[in-house]
Amino acid sequence: MWNIQLFKLNFDDQEVKAVSDVVSGGWLSMGEETINFEEGFSSFLGKDVYCKAVSNGTAALHMALLALEVGEDDEVIIPSLTFVADINVVKLVGATPVLADASNLDDWNMSLETIKEKVTNKTKAIIIVHYAGYPCKDILAISKFCNDKGIALIEDVAHAPGASVDGKKCGTFGAIGCFSFFSNKNLSIGEGGMVSTMCPGLHKKLGYIRSHGMTTLTLDRHKGRSITYDVAQPGLNYRMDEMRAAIGSVQLKKLPDGNLRRGELTQRYRSNLSATSVMIPFKEHPSNAESVYHILPILLPEGTDRVLIIGALKEKGIQSSIHYPPFWDFSAFKGQFEQDDSPITAQICTRQLTLPLFPTMTDQEVDQVTSALIEAINEC
Ligand SMILES: Cc1ncc(COP(=O)(O)O)c(C=O)c1O
Repeated sequence: MWNIQLFKLNFDDQEVKAVSDVVSGGWLSMGEETINFEEGFSSFLGKDVYCKAVSNGTAALHMALLALEVGEDDEVIIPSLTFVADINVVKLVGATPVLADASNLDDWNMSLETIKEKVTNKTKAIIIVHYAGYPCKDILAISKFCNDKGIALIEDVAHAPGASVDGKKCGTFGAIGCFSFFSNKNLSIGEGGMVSTMCPGLHKKLGYIRSHGMTTLTLDRHKGRSITYDVAQPGLNYRMDEMRAAIGSVQLKKLPDGNLRRGELTQRYRSNLSATSVMIPFKEHPSNAESVYHILPILLPEGTDRVLIIGALKEKGIQSSIHYPPFWDFSAFKGQFEQDDSPITAQICTRQLTLPLFPTMTDQEVDQVTSALIEAINEC
């Protein structure tokens, strides 16, 4: 259907072999592959970072809120521009989500300023999102602010595995980092996620929450290392299986090169569109904040009919998407948020479009997309 789709997996025989080896090995969940993937991801994030592989990014966020004991009467600040998982998990633990606006039309992340406007004495946690793979440029100041105020900082790193600020990886600035390895992410598994923390106590608690609060694993009993288990606290089943963990380890090896290639392609998009009325955000991004270019978001010129542009691209076989529709338009949240309270996000949400970006994309494909886009804008 598509000549150029939004995203393509960067899979080859290595992923196939990884899964096939697990299946022939006969151990399917929470075994050596999971440990291997967790250890690899921990070293990737840096020294003294503890990781637990989980079933998906939403589970990671849910676990973070549970581990930090966020609940009724607590407020959690989240970006007004983000995926619905961030608001859903806050609602589902019984806390109140408070939306903070994007910084400006170039920097779509929250800033310390937009956050400070929303802090009250009920603020228990802040969820930062590194939108499109661009690290939140105030992350160091936000982390200090949270420490000073006793507010828990959670990083939603779904878009940004490998991104860094001053050489320190995103996912290590707050109490807990939450990663997603959904199919279309920089590290693709299908369904999968990771929680990261530098706090051994939280690491232990996250382990309990991931697996029924149990003190030993099925593998421990299989290997004869223990006979039974205690339940230290109530927990869930947010485990990752061995097939996915094995794919994760292969994908982790490909991640640095994939991120670099995304950067090159983004540069090409920027130069192809530089003389047009289309804006690509994060143009002014500071050089100490290294992006991993998860998606290629653009801001269409004001007044452009986005539906017509999407249709014109589709006619040429080019897939596009929207990141994200605003919360105030969803039936579940109708009447709960004022778009005037997040004016920058409101503008972005009406003019934003996401163009194809994936590591195996060719330069020529970028040129095809930008030519089709320019033509569509001139005609619509
Ligand atoms: C910013 C953000 N947060 C959270 C998630 C949820 O991750 P998952 O789909 O793995 O549950 C996503 C995934 O799309 C995301 O983009």
